[in-house]
Amino acid sequence: MFILYRSQVSAQSVFLFLIRSCSSNMADLWQNAMDHAVAAARRAGQVVREALQDDRKVMTKSSSVDLVTQTDQKVEQLIIQSVREKFPKHRFIGEESVAAGEPCVLTDGPTWIIDPIDGTTNFVHAFPFVAVSIGFSVNKQMEFGVVYSCLEDKMYTAKRGKGAFCNGEPLQVSNQEDIKQSIIATEFGSSRDPEAVDKIFSSLRNILCIPVHGVRGAGTAAINMCLVASGCVEAYYEIGIHVWDVAAGSLIVSEAGGVLMDVEGGEVDLMSRRVVAANSRTIGERIVKQIDSFSPPRDDASSLHKH
Ligand code: IPD
Repeated sequence: MFILYRSQVSAQSVFLFLIRSCSSNMADLWQNAMDHAVAAARRAGQVVREALQDDRKVMTKSSSVDLVTQTDQKVEQLIIQSVREKFPKHRFIGEESVAAGEPCVLTDGPTWIIDPIDGTTNFVHAFPFVAVSIGFSVNKQMEFGVVYSCLEDKMYTAKRGKGAFCNGEPLQVSNQEDIKQSIIATEFGSSRDPEAVDKIFSSLRNILCIPVHGVRGAGTAAINMCLVASGCVEAYYEIGIHVWDVAAGSLIVSEAGGVLMDVEGGEVDLMSRRVVAANSRTIGERIVKQIDSFSPPRDDASSLHKH
């Protein structure tokens, strides 16, 4: 009986030991991946800064105002190659790979969601806000997010459950609950479809006339979200963004104490191209009430058809 009891205890402790070491290895694994993302974003930022010194050859994608440069493509390839060498089984959703025909599908597998230059229009015009954005998702949940605002040399990071930081300093959203004392960030995006533009202006008019203290936009969704996380603006909303613009920023906002929601108030869906990121549910829901919403084609629309 005594021997049986001892063997039960030891079997139990071996089991617990295995579980603990397995979950701590998993944690270490994502920490390694996050360290790699930070280093890759820093190297990418260096390439972006150097490219700003040269002439930039501008090409277009979905419309004449949806811009891309060779630097966007080069930086994305640099990041993907370096990740592949270290994590060969991981998957990717990259802005320029999707533009080149790769599927945009989020599975349960470890997936790197990359925007090599968020703020390409800014980059083309040397307007000084440009970010490298890298989100990492497992089981369709963001595990970490890295946004490197490379012209300001600000490295924003967040790991699920571990808080958000800028250059190592903890971030906290604003505690302002009065929309009339708030600054709201948004963008006009790259659609020039007159119906969409009318709705964008109608929402903007509604928000300005609340009235709010001001409306701002950095020209990059990722930096706008980091500004929410930093407490400089109370909320950011946009219809027309893509999953790679907001994947990393969404975790940075929530880890800084903020909330994410859809522009109609439900749960945010990063493939839906609609997002509200706010310091609090009160401010987020107040913004939602002013938005004249519409639904651009989902990022995963063509991939959904194929699967
Ligand atoms: C764009 C920027 C811009 C936002 C657009 C995005 P890109 O990303 O984030 O601020 O208004 O909706 O597509 O094309 O520069 O990576």
